[in-house]
Amino acid sequence: MSRRTFGRIAAVLIGLGSVVAILPQSARPRSPRLDAWRLARDLIQESGTRKSIPKFVVWPTAREIFPCGEHSPAAVRGVSARNLLDESFHYSPEVAVRLCAPLSPATGTAPLDAVLATWEKSKPKPPTITLQFPDGAHLAAAFWNAVRRPADPQNGKIVQAAIRAGNEVRTQRIRITLPSHLGTGSAACDPPTSKGEPAAADAADVSLDEFFWVRLNPGERYNGALCGDFAVLMAFHLVHKVQGRWLWTTFWWDPESKEFGGDRPKDFDGAGEVPRAWRNYAMDASFESTATIFNPWRIEERKDNCARCHAEVTVYKSPTSDAQISFDSVTAARNHFQ
Ligand code: HEC
Repeated sequence: MSRRTFGRIAAVLIGLGSVVAILPQSARPRSPRLDAWRLARDLIQESGTRKSIPKFVVWPTAREIFPCGEHSPAAVRGVSARNLLDESFHYSPEVAVRLCAPLSPATGTAPLDAVLATWEKSKPKPPTITLQFPDGAHLAAAFWNAVRRPADPQNGKIVQAAIRAGNEVRTQRIRITLPSHLGTGSAACDPPTSKGEPAAADAADVSLDEFFWVRLNPGERYNGALCGDFAVLMAFHLVHKVQGRWLWTTFWWDPESKEFGGDRPKDFDGAGEVPRAWRNYAMDASFESTATIFNPWRIEERKDNCARCHAEVTVYKSPTSDAQISFDSVTAARNHFQ
């Protein structure tokens, strides 16, 4: 590099340095990752609705929110405490209320799930932009794996755990085993009937306590698991409305990742019998619709971008005109608008 070029670069760098120095703290772009950890830390705390269950898991599902008008928000909370594993998409209370609020002033008081006929008739049809969620609204998705209690406590369950290195997906074979204090029966449940799998040379043993898990109560079922068995959290999404923009965040189990976990706050603890198990999840976050951001567990989302795809899949297109509607580019208006 010539001395002159060097001099110019140095002048630019010094200039940039002084601009940064005079900018007030608030004008600097904040890292979405730090916001993502902070917001998640709040939502993984115990809900108060059911012991050891984090807030985002007890939020209502679409099946509990729709049809609108049949229940009060209090009734919605009652249902969600019983069926927490039933569906994996959950909506925070602000979102649940907004989903059942009037669609737009132009279509009267009818909520999303009952307004289709009115919307089709109204001219002009309300554009996508009239529908907005407030700041502090959140959506969540939880991806569980059913782990049954094995009749032989030495056995476990082999799982292909998807993890990320950069934008590449790798799979790790692990065998989830029960710590001795959980392997024994639960008085209220029948003895275990599942055989389970013996140790395998190519699958490292990982204790259930390295994950967040939920133990099924009498009468509960999840994907073949019954009373006394476990639903183990492999991955989850949390989407937050922050200052008018969606912050897309996604988490998957990978205690080793420095790339996606090195900046995790030291106190990242949450609900459950092992609060620090939440530190074993790696995370990706973005406000943008261009960067690559995906959860390795979601095969259909790999190497893609949350906002980009949601901007397409959430749109409902009128069959009779060019009009279309989307609920703030995030949720499935396409599915719920009837
Ligand atoms: C390739 C398309 C695609 C990508 C990429 C994608 N999603 Fe989705 N997502 C969907 C579809 C389709 C649904 C609705 C599925 C259904 O209703 O069964 C959905 C549902 C959801 C839901 C449930 C809420 C709702 O009302 O639909 C959340 C939360 C969510 N996605 C978050 C994310 C996050 C976070 C990312 C990025 C890490 C992401 N999605 C990437 C297509 C995508």
